[in-house]
Amino acid sequence: MRALAWHGRHDVRVDTVDDPEIVNKRDAIIKVTSTAICGSDLHLYDGYIPTMKAGDILGHEFMGEVVETGPGSTLQKGQRVVVPFTIACGSCFHCGKQQYSACDNGNPADNQDIAETLYGQPMSGLFGYSHMTGGYAGGQAEYVRVPYSDVGPIVIPDGVDDDKVLFLSDILPTGWQAAENADIEPGDTVAVWGCGPVGLFAVQSAFLMGAARVIAIDHFPKRLELARRFGAETINFEETATYDALMQMTGGIGPDACIDSVGLEAHGLFVDNVIDQIKKSTFLGTDRIHSIRQAIVACRKGGRVSMPAVYGGIVDKFPLGAFMEKGLTLKTGQTHVQRYLPGLLNAIMEGKIDTTFLISHRMPLEQAPEAYRMFHDEQNDVTKIVLKPGMAVPAPAAA
Ligand SMILES: NC(=O)c1ccc[n+]([C@@H]2O[C@H](COP(=O)([O-])OP(=O)(O)OC[C@H]3O[C@@H](n4cnc5c(N)ncnc54)[C@H](O)[C@@H]3O)[C@@H](O)[C@H]2O)c1
Ligand SMILES: [Zn+2]
Ligand SMILES: [Zn+2]
Repeated sequence: MRALAWHGRHDVRVDTVDDPEIVNKRDAIIKVTSTAICGSDLHLYDGYIPTMKAGDILGHEFMGEVVETGPGSTLQKGQRVVVPFTIACGSCFHCGKQQYSACDNGNPADNQDIAETLYGQPMSGLFGYSHMTGGYAGGQAEYVRVPYSDVGPIVIPDGVDDDKVLFLSDILPTGWQAAENADIEPGDTVAVWGCGPVGLFAVQSAFLMGAARVIAIDHFPKRLELARRFGAETINFEETATYDALMQMTGGIGPDACIDSVGLEAHGLFVDNVIDQIKKSTFLGTDRIHSIRQAIVACRKGGRVSMPAVYGGIVDKFPLGAFMEKGLTLKTGQTHVQRYLPGLLNAIMEGKIDTTFLISHRMPLEQAPEAYRMFHDEQNDVTKIVLKPGMAVPAPAAA
């Protein structure tokens, strides 16, 4: 089959590789019909995530048709499913608490040492996201093996377009969990850093949970425009100092809840970001944590901070004093996707959540390297790219 493989920093290629096979009883094989590139994939593309190997197949946002099932799968051939990016067994201690992204069984034991040393406990399994998370082949491919297929995938009713449901695989539940982790109360003012897909779904979710005002922060005009479409007020951090603007907009109190949906690649020329940048280029650190620092400093006393954004390493210049003295709460984590799927599918079917607005480009899988370059370099115009393995590569335009 054809699949998008990582070969190094800014080097991804569509290779011909072996088709996946059923390995365990509960596996299923999915023929991928749609798969998206995520902001998290950019962290791999930029070489920030350790334990990647040349040839690793990327992709953790995908859906498709069931073409093969192991004897323990509950899926049936021909069903259309969306697959969560987190691989969870459904029956361990953590899955019992619906903390699926903390599953103890999704990541094979021989891959667990690095994370155990770094984080104290091994990480759970994720599709297409390094050997630290299991080394699973991802879904930016024609076919993919889905372990624990009786727990993760959600079956999509006939007649519902891929574009409407694909983002159930990650960014929609991630935006939702981000808002849930902000413990939003009716009437709250919520600030959201980053108007990428996660931030934009956090904006929609925050309003659905009763926020009176949502203030969205970014520097790409088109992304800010999308946030305004859902009723957010916006701050362009290149034109206005974010902290000052937030204080002015909240009468000097600060937002009740702050959501960091930027992550370890924060843009911008800020003193703290420059220090992080120097450390990164001298291998003294990996993460640029500007947005979470700012969220903590701007948040009102007694407020809540939610951090869906991904960070990987050990950081410094973390405003622990502000965090403690102001009595803040911080919630974070990889998304427990499985927990949210039935409710969010219903919300889509009832028209309460709009997902298709986000897709700026649909491209054949064969053009995935170009798609990665575009999503990386042209973030104003490119909000989300959906790759279609079945789509023909367009003929070059006649001269
Ligand atoms: N917790 C999870 O399970 C989970 C799931 C998916 C994605 N993520 C993470 O969420 C984050 C966002 O994902 P995405 O797909 O929306 O990514 P993205 O790269 O498309 O969007 C990030 C946005 O942040 C903006 N930004 C950069 N610096 C900023 C700053 N200083 N202030 C305000 N905005 C700034 C960028 O302009 C961009 O629009 C990433 O870190 C990703 O890895 C986490
Ligand atoms: Zn993702
Ligand atoms: Zn489990």
